[in-house]
Amino acid sequence: MANKPAPVKLSLTRRYLFSASHRLHSHAFTAQENASLYGKCNNPHGHGHNYFVEVTVAGPADPSTGMVANLADLDAFVAERVIEPFQYSFLNEAAPHFRSVVPTTENLCLEVYHRLKDFPHARIVRIRIEETALNSFEYIHEAQSTPEGAMRK
Ligand code: NI
Repeated sequence: MANKPAPVKLSLTRRYLFSASHRLHSHAFTAQENASLYGKCNNPHGHGHNYFVEVTVAGPADPSTGMVANLADLDAFVAERVIEPFQYSFLNEAAPHFRSVVPTTENLCLEVYHRLKDFPHARIVRIRIEETALNSFEYIHEAQSTPEGAMRK
């Protein structure tokens, strides 16, 4: 049997920044449980972060352009779907989803994926968010993953 060459795997990662505030508070718990679980992050007035968001797209390089996706297309899509709605916002109210789901950065990764998954030029395969210099979170989309199942009832 002839050896089949392994498919070429190419990806492109672009980094974005937005600033927003959030409050970690779950409706599933009492006020005291929330305070004990989330500590200072449960402060009623919230607190802010500069979120660095990395978006990775994958696919073949277009034979004529040599690119997985045009950065200008990705930038415009991410700006419209994520940066503009979230820039200088209170995340708990900026997305309808966060009225019932705690806007932890884990959940923010899933929400950002959900907003970008229809990008028409390449597959969105990874969302990584740096919340602070010490914390980062990542969602990797595999073919069988169903993030909506995990995050959307
Ligand atoms: Ni925080």
